[in-house]
Amino acid sequence: MDVTINNFTGNNPTGFDTSRFRGNYSICQDDWSVDQDYAGYQAADHALWRQLYAEQLPLVKQYAAAEFITGLESFDCSDGLPDLAKASQLLKKRSNWEIVVVPGIIPVQPFFHHLANRRFPVTNWLRTVDELGYLVEPDIFHDFFGHVPLLMNKVFADFVQEYGKLALKALELGVDSFYSRLFWFTVEFGLIHENGEVKAYGAGILSSPIETNYSMNSTKPHWLGYDMLRIMHTDNRIDELQPNYFVIDSYQQLFESTLVPMQKVIDQLKDVRLIERGEIIASDVVIKKGKD
Ligand code: CO
Repeated sequence: MDVTINNFTGNNPTGFDTSRFRGNYSICQDDWSVDQDYAGYQAADHALWRQLYAEQLPLVKQYAAAEFITGLESFDCSDGLPDLAKASQLLKKRSNWEIVVVPGIIPVQPFFHHLANRRFPVTNWLRTVDELGYLVEPDIFHDFFGHVPLLMNKVFADFVQEYGKLALKALELGVDSFYSRLFWFTVEFGLIHENGEVKAYGAGILSSPIETNYSMNSTKPHWLGYDMLRIMHTDNRIDELQPNYFVIDSYQQLFESTLVPMQKVIDQLKDVRLIERGEIIASDVVIKKGKD
C-alpha cells in the first residue's frame, strides 16, 4: 500500500511513530486526513454507536452545558454513526468550521494547524464493545459526540481557532506544554457556570459516563475557578479521573484568555513549579472542595 505519511510536508521533526496507534495511517494524505469510508462500517458498529449514544444521552441532558445539548441535537445522530461529510456541511453553515477525518491521534503540529484553520480532526474508527466505558486513544465517539456539538457555538468555535494559532506559535517557542494543559482543562475537561449551576462542556467528560458522573457527583474532585495561567502549570494525567476541574463563567471568558500575550505567559511561568494534581493554592477560587 502507498504510504504517504512519510512525505508529510508539515513541520514534524519528532518522527511521529504511527505504529503505536490503532488506526490505518497508511492511507493518509499529507494533512493526515483520510476518507471516512462510511459504507465500511458494519451493522455491529452502528449498534455499538447507538448503545453509547443511548447510554450517554440522559447524562448529557442532566449534566451538559445547554449549548452542548443544542449542538448535539442538531446533528440527529442517535441512530448510527454520523456521516462526517454531512455533519461537516452543517457545522460549516453554523460556525464556519469543518470536520477533517483522521485515522486517530495525529502529531501536534498538524493538529494545531487544522484547529487554526477551523478544521476539527475526527477519528474514523469506533471502539470495540470491550471498551465501552473508557479508552486511552480517542475514537469517533469521543471526537464527534464529545467535541463537535460545542463547535456549533460561535464563541467557543472562535476560541478553539485562536487556541490553535497560539499552540502553533507555542510549539515553535518550545512552550507548548503550557498550551496543552490549557486544552486539557478546558476543551477536554472543562466545566461552566450556567444559571446558578455547574455544567460540563469538556469532551473528555461528556463522551464518558464514568467521567460525567465522577466530575458532577463525586465528592472527591475539586471544582476551582478558571484561571488560565494557573491551569497552564497544573499537572495532568491522561489515564486517571481528574482530581480538579476548572469552571469558566462563559465561553467569552475562554476566548478572552487567548488575548493574553504569549510573552506574558512565558515570563510568568517559565521558572514556576508545576502545581500538583488535586492541590489547592492560595489564589484559587474554590467552588467545591473535594474530599480525598
Ligand atoms: Co478530545
